[in-house]
Amino acid sequence: MNPSFRSCLALLPLAVSSLLAAQSPAVLTIHGDQSLHSVSPTLYGLMTEEINYSYDGGLYAEMVRNRTLRDGGWEQQDWMLVQNAEAGGAMAMDKTTGPSSALPNSLKLTVTEASQGDPAGVRNNGFWGYALRPDTTYSGSLYAKADSAAIGALTVRLVNNTTGKTVASAVIPAIGAAWKRYSVTLRTGAIVPSADNHLELTVAHPGTLWMTLVSIFPPTYDNRPNGNRIDLMEKMAALHPAFLRFPGGNYLEGNHLADWYDWKKTIGPLVDRPTHPSPWGYHSSDGLGLLEFFEWCEDLHMKPVLAVYAGYALEHEHITPGPDLAPYVQDALDEIEYATGGPQTKWGAERVRDGHPAPFAVPYVEIGNEDEFDRSGSYDARFAQFYDAIKAKYPSIQLIATTPVKSRKPAVLDDHYYKSAEEFFADTHHYDKADRNGPKIFVGEYATMEGTPTGDFGAALGDAAWLTGLERNSDLVVMASYAPMLVNVNPGGMQWHPDLIGYDGLTSYGSPSYYALALFAAHLGDMVPDSTLTGAGPRAFYSVTERRSDGLIFLKLVNAAPQEQALHIDIKGVGAQHGTARLIRLHAATTAASNSLDHPRQIVPVTSTVALSGSVLTHVIPGYSIEVLEIPTR
Ligand code: AHR
Repeated sequence: MNPSFRSCLALLPLAVSSLLAAQSPAVLTIHGDQSLHSVSPTLYGLMTEEINYSYDGGLYAEMVRNRTLRDGGWEQQDWMLVQNAEAGGAMAMDKTTGPSSALPNSLKLTVTEASQGDPAGVRNNGFWGYALRPDTTYSGSLYAKADSAAIGALTVRLVNNTTGKTVASAVIPAIGAAWKRYSVTLRTGAIVPSADNHLELTVAHPGTLWMTLVSIFPPTYDNRPNGNRIDLMEKMAALHPAFLRFPGGNYLEGNHLADWYDWKKTIGPLVDRPTHPSPWGYHSSDGLGLLEFFEWCEDLHMKPVLAVYAGYALEHEHITPGPDLAPYVQDALDEIEYATGGPQTKWGAERVRDGHPAPFAVPYVEIGNEDEFDRSGSYDARFAQFYDAIKAKYPSIQLIATTPVKSRKPAVLDDHYYKSAEEFFADTHHYDKADRNGPKIFVGEYATMEGTPTGDFGAALGDAAWLTGLERNSDLVVMASYAPMLVNVNPGGMQWHPDLIGYDGLTSYGSPSYYALALFAAHLGDMVPDSTLTGAGPRAFYSVTERRSDGLIFLKLVNAAPQEQALHIDIKGVGAQHGTARLIRLHAATTAASNSLDHPRQIVPVTSTVALSGSVLTHVIPGYSIEVLEIPTR
C-alpha cells in the first residue's frame, strides 16, 4: 500500500455522522521521524493569461486604454473629441499613416477653431478612469506628426471628470511633420487619490495632427520602464510563487488559428508590436509581451513554465501534424532560444537587443493548452512533433503534456480542475493511488467555483481542502496554480469568476482563497512525515509537512463544517515539546463571507500562540476555519 495513502485512510470513515464526529475528539498522530517522501519545492506557483483585464487595465501599468486604436468601437468607448466653447474639430481613424508597419493607423485630429483659452483635441477615458495619487510622477509619451508648425504646442493634461480641473499637465512645444516619439512627465500635487480622471491632448491653434501609441505610466514595480503595477506585484510576491505558467490558458490558443499567440509580435520596441485579438473579447496591447513575462518571473524569483502554441484553436481548428505544423515547431524552438540563447544565437541576440543580455532558465515547456478539447485526436502526433524537436535541441527541458499521450512519455501532465467545494471535499484523495511511474502532475489550473468576482469563504474551504491532498501527494504533484488569478472588478471587466485577486485602478484585494494559498505556500516543509487521523468529522482535512533542517512541523487543518472539531495531536518520534506553537487562522462565520474592494480585509489570517506541553496537544478547530500550526520539535 502506498504509505501516503495509508495516512489518508483515516479520513475515510466519513460516513460517520458529523454530529457524532463533532462530539468525540479526533486523534491526529504524526510520526515526525518517519518520512514518506519529499515535498516538491515548486509546489506553489502562479498561472496567468490575458483574461478579466489581467494585463491591459490590470497588472501592466499602462493607463491609456486602446493606445494604438486597435480595439473595435474605439471612438465611442475609449477616445472622444474635446471641443470647448468656441473650438471646433473632428476626429477620425486614418488608415493611411502610422509610425511603423506594425502600427499603420493613427488618430487624425482636424482642428478648425481653437485658442489658448478654448483648446480643442481628444480625450481618453482610460481603463475605467485614470487612477491618480498625490505627489506622483507619471511618464507620458506618444507618437505624433502635424501638417504644419502652425498648430503649435500639444498640451497633455490629466483632468478630473467631476470638477473639470487639471490635475497634472505638461506641454510638448512643437510637433514636427514626420512621425516622432515625444515624451513628457506629469506630476500631481496634493490631490485625493481617485480614478475619476481622464487624459486630454489638446492644441490651441487650427491644424491637423496625427497620433498613436499614446502612453501614461505611473511608477512601476522596481521602476521598470513599461512595467507592472506595484500593488499587484506585491500581492503576488506574498503568495511565495515558485513558478509562473504563461501565456495561457486559452490566451495561448486564440479562437481561430490566425489568432494564435504569435510571440514574435510581442517583443521589441512597442511601436513594432502590432497587438492582437484575444479570445476573451478584447484586444491585447501586447505591451506585456514575451520578454515582460520573463522579467516578471525574474522580479518575483519564479521559474518560467513557458507554454508554446501547439497548433490548436478554441473553435476546434487544428494544424495537421507534419509539414503544416513544422513552422510552429520552429517558432517554439525560436522562442526557447530567445529566452535561453547567448548573444551568438539569432534569437538570443534579439533578446540582448531588446535590453536583456542575461539569458533566462527555462526548466519547463508546456506544449499547448487543454488539448483534450481537440476532437480531431491530433494532439498525440502534434505533441510528438514538438517533443522530438525540443528534446533534440534542449534535452534537459521537462516537457509538459496537456492531456495524456501515448506517442511519447511527457515528464509532466497538466491537469485542470474547476469544481464546487463539495466536489473538492470529495476528491481530496484524487492522487493518493495515482501511478507513481507515469508523468509527474502539474495542477496547472484549479479553483472552487463559488463567489464572484472573487471566491467566497466556501470557495477558500474547497481550495484549502484540495491543497491538503496535493501537499500529501507532493511526490507526484510537482506544481499547482490557481486560475484565473486576476480580475478587474469594474463593470465589464470580468469574463470568468471566481478569481483570486480583485482590483480597480486604485486598489486591490485578495479573496479568502488568496489568503489560504498564501498561508499554505509560506508554511511548507520539505518532507511529508507519516501520519494518521482517526475520528474526524467528514469535513476535516489536514496536511502535515516538516522542515528537516530544524524539525519545524507545519500542520494545515481545514474544518469545512460549521461546528468545531476537537483534535488531539500526538507527535511521535521526536522529543517532547515545550514552549509554544504558532497558530495562524483564517476564519469566517459563513461560507458566503468574502473580501471585496470595499471590505478588503474582512477575512484575513490571525496569528496567536498555543502552549505546548509534552508530545500531545489538544486543539479545537472552530467551524469554517483554515489553520496552520507551526510546531517546533527541537
Ligand atoms: O482559467 C480560465 C480558462 O479555463 C483557461 O483559459 C483555460 O485553460 C481553462 O479552460
